[in-house]
Amino acid sequence: MTFVSIQEALAKGKGRVALRGWVYRERGSNEFKFIVLRDSSNIIQCVFKQEKFSSKAWDELDKVTVESSMTVEGTLKEDKRAPTGYELQADKFTVLQRAEPFPITKDQSPEFLLDVRHLSIRSRRLTAVMKIRHTVMKAFRDYFMQEKFIEMEPPIFTPNACEGGSTLFEVKYYKEKMYLTQSWQLYAEAAIFALERIFCISPCFRAEKSKTSRHLSEFWMAEMEAAWIGLPELLKYAEGCVSHIVQMAVKENTAELEILGRDIATLKKVKAPFPRKTYAEVLKILKEKEQVDIPFGKDLRTIEEDLIMKHFDKPLMVTNYPKAIMAFYKKRDPKHPETALCFDVLAPEGYGEIIGGSERDTDLEELKKALQQEGEKLENYNWYFDLRRYGNVPHAGFGLGVERVVSWLCGLDNIKDAIPFPRTMYRFSP
Ligand code: 4AD
Ligand code: MG
Repeated sequence: MTFVSIQEALAKGKGRVALRGWVYRERGSNEFKFIVLRDSSNIIQCVFKQEKFSSKAWDELDKVTVESSMTVEGTLKEDKRAPTGYELQADKFTVLQRAEPFPITKDQSPEFLLDVRHLSIRSRRLTAVMKIRHTVMKAFRDYFMQEKFIEMEPPIFTPNACEGGSTLFEVKYYKEKMYLTQSWQLYAEAAIFALERIFCISPCFRAEKSKTSRHLSEFWMAEMEAAWIGLPELLKYAEGCVSHIVQMAVKENTAELEILGRDIATLKKVKAPFPRKTYAEVLKILKEKEQVDIPFGKDLRTIEEDLIMKHFDKPLMVTNYPKAIMAFYKKRDPKHPETALCFDVLAPEGYGEIIGGSERDTDLEELKKALQQEGEKLENYNWYFDLRRYGNVPHAGFGLGVERVVSWLCGLDNIKDAIPFPRTMYRFSP
């Protein structure tokens, strides 16, 4: 017989099927053995009746342990008491490998589960998260391809910083010093002169020294960059892309969101347009509604982001942060020169910043001044300055933190569960 997935078997609902997978749960008596089988698609209860098997086969079945790999053949029967509504009445099986006692049992600490991530990745919870992550990647691509953007791949080894020297990972590169990329942006800015509208999904690296539930040392950023656009168009792309991602996940991952116990109705409401506030307006709301007084010029911290998001149930787009505290490439707003033409998107429900982006400064002298203020060596940026020398045009772009979005969609407590094998300051194995 050809094998079908458990989900295909459940959809079929009757007749004979052959399945293959891993033992999720097992229990037995003298007369019956119950094995809940798991594959990538779902779980199903398989019932083995002793009288159908030789004593040798029964003995083998009796010894089957959690996470053993096996094939099972039998007849499907509807059974409301079974975990997924059907039962497989088995009459044939093979055990490919009888697993050693599985180290993961109930109620283990999150740290232990991370120590054995190569095994805990099989959990139904993480399987569900990874399927949702797949949708996030797909939806981002899908959105920008529909908008006629071209996918482009950035280098990972870079000679200079994009987001400030304090989080750079230095690596030995033959006899030279290089860094792991913090963002593809500077290369995107070079490539728009060829392709005009581009996007990428790439790993990024930051030596984050703070221990938070929102920061990884290795994470994936989905970025876009386009020529001839400014902040208004950029905001449209950001809200369009985030709504598309959320709605696609709601549509394609209902089962996974249910496994994670996520409130789907809340996510369904996440559709463009999103509310917009300037940084100054956010300070005003914080002062009036939360009695928190932040002086103009201070960045919003996690705690302030969470306080402001108490007042919004859709993502909030915050624009015009103070120019002085922004990365060197963010363009000054000519109408409000103390601020930059930049924005962050803050997710609701306490998930913080999911997107950062801006119009890019096209003024070479301003760029040099800002870099010097950040303590950077101008000669490292000579190639980047060329972009302002040869056919300079207005352009803008943003980066979306894939794991931040996955955390929010899945309702995770910690960003470490939004990536298959997390890397943080204290966690780099397995
Ligand atoms: O706001 P950031 O630093 O922006 C940039 O890097 C720009 N160069 C992007 C661009 O304009 N093309 O980072 C963008 C997003 C953040 O909003 C956040 O969601 C995510 O990347 N991010 C992280 N996610 C997980 N762990 C970290 N350490 C992160 N740092 C940033
Ligand atoms: Mg940012």
